Amino acid sequence: MATLIDGKAHAQALRDAVAGEVRRLGEGHGLVPGLAVVLLGEDPASQVYVRSKGRHAREVGMRSFEHCLPAATPEAELLSLIATLNHDPAVHGILVQLPLPDPIDTEAVIAAIDPAKDVDGFHPLNAGALAAGGEGLVPCTPLGCLTLLKAHLGDLAGKHAVVLGRSRIVGRPMASLLLREDCTVTLAHSRTANPAKVCRQGDILVAAVGQPGLVQGDWVKAGATVIDVGITRLGNGDTTRLVGDVNPACVSRVAGALTPVPGGVGPMTIACLLHNTLIAACRQHR
Ligand code: GUN
Repeated sequence: MATLIDGKAHAQALRDAVAGEVRRLGEGHGLVPGLAVVLLGEDPASQVYVRSKGRHAREVGMRSFEHCLPAATPEAELLSLIATLNHDPAVHGILVQLPLPDPIDTEAVIAAIDPAKDVDGFHPLNAGALAAGGEGLVPCTPLGCLTLLKAHLGDLAGKHAVVLGRSRIVGRPMASLLLREDCTVTLAHSRTANPAKVCRQGDILVAAVGQPGLVQGDWVKAGATVIDVGITRLGNGDTTRLVGDVNPACVSRVAGALTPVPGGVGPMTIACLLHNTLIAACRQHR
């Protein structure tokens, strides 16, 4: 049976390390990192995420600024808020929760964020730096996946990594990060022919498509390390449960290691957001 990779424990360790650095910055430099989170609309799942990001930021000693605006907020008003946050010296990180309601132009909003404060790593300058193999701010979920992979496998050089899904939030930056670690990278997606065969080549398989239980046992190489990024809420009322892109019952019989859902990648995302906020604060302070 596959080893379960404990994302909660790794996330706690990363948050503890960030908290230690935040304390040191405060004592040594009087610097308190600040994270601003902006939410438009009343989507319950997004509200839960935003509240959780604020709470975790405060727990590691950061300042948290939460801006919850109505879904009908005009784009100009959102851009004006971002400009204010860009110029606020107490704010070192800015995150606008996605997806944004129609008819807001998501690209315009992301491009308006100061790249130095773009703790999501979605600004074209940060996305471009990562694609070019350089150093910017890296999207939190793939950074969390990479942290788990390196903790479990050590050096990743020469391993064949298959990334399933080509989203801006996970798939594309994940492929760039694995390339930076000297993996041989295959990026598979919804138009890939015979995805099971392609995925079966991976010593590492990262599944990030948002299709519950898509990855079956015969999609996985024996002994592979499988990272399940999917989180889909199934059911209704009191009986909802979170499921990943991987069918854990059959994949755990083939894989060497697997991240559970929940308790795998999810907790790492917020821990990496705090890590990015700390890095952004240090770079802006120099
Ligand atoms: N919505 C789902 N994932 C994310 C994320 O990583 N960042 C932001 N801003 N919104 C999201």
